[in-house]
Amino acid sequence: MSLTASSPVHTPVLVKEAIEGLEVRPGGSYIDCTVGSGGHALAILEKVSPGGRLLSIDADPEVIEIAKSKLACYGEAVILVNDNFANLAAICSKYNLYPVDGILFDLGVSSLQLDTAQRGFSFQRDAPLDMRFDPSQGLTAADIVNSFPEQQLAHIIKENSEERHSRRIARHIVQSRPITTTLALAEVVEQALGSKHGKIHPATRTFMALRIAVNGELESLKLALEQTINLLRFRGRLVVISYHSLEDRIVKEFMRREASSCICPPGTVICRCGHVPTLKLISRKVIKPTLWEIESNPRSRSARMRIAERLK
Ligand SMILES: C[S@@+](CC[C@H](N)C(=O)[O-])C[C@H]1O[C@@H](n2cnc3c(N)ncnc32)[C@H](O)[C@@H]1O
Repeated sequence: MSLTASSPVHTPVLVKEAIEGLEVRPGGSYIDCTVGSGGHALAILEKVSPGGRLLSIDADPEVIEIAKSKLACYGEAVILVNDNFANLAAICSKYNLYPVDGILFDLGVSSLQLDTAQRGFSFQRDAPLDMRFDPSQGLTAADIVNSFPEQQLAHIIKENSEERHSRRIARHIVQSRPITTTLALAEVVEQALGSKHGKIHPATRTFMALRIAVNGELESLKLALEQTINLLRFRGRLVVISYHSLEDRIVKEFMRREASSCICPPGTVICRCGHVPTLKLISRKVIKPTLWEIESNPRSRSARMRIAERLK
């Protein structure tokens, strides 16, 4: 995916809010766990100079190359790492970068990936069913669609997208195998559900569910969040932007648990957990894009941002 004038462009979401949430300051050190095409990274780098550093991670090697050329002018202030953020602590240890002043996650998929047809993320264009962030990883969406048992397929679709008709979709998929392209899969889902299925395309949820499964997105998020606590310095900020309720629920529950002085099971009369809060919630409610941002970048409409601060 080399950049040309007609290449897809990713418009970063909630940039001002993320920079404010991170409290980016000159000389500080920060981690962007999902550098993508470097929109948030650029905004952070502008503010950390002079003397600051930004560790930028992405699982997608093509995206890292794009970020590399975009951020090159910041020289040694930026470290780019092609890895999964599930390995966050090991990455920080390798580059000797901790504790840090702020950690940002801008989850999901970028427009660069979504709009590059051959990556197979979208049913807007025909392409092989791939959906991997990291093309060196074995499992593709085609593998799941064509080889997983019907029940497991239904489970993946339901659990990763809250699709109510997962069993019907899984049955149609199994009956239509082999399905090798994005448009063929979209057609099968449309046949299963009918073309009139609310405001969104009937295949939207199924595609999202498969992408989440291919990349193990929810598991990686849980693993990475747990590692952030030990990486943040006192008063360091954790900022997470998510794009669907499953991700947001994981972030909300993690932040609430870490901010709580008791994590005993509900109904426990006497607290025995001895939990010491590690985070303070900065935003009790989610921060959403303004109407103006949604109008100028419709893909921002589902964004939800949460902010927490490291306690002593
Ligand atoms: C919404 S985009 C980020 C856009 C970026 N903030 C920008 O301004 O361009 C999400 C990025 O996260 C990456 N990603 C998703 N899951 C990841 C993971 N577990 N580890 C590393 N990167 C991941 C994707 O490859 C994608 O490039």
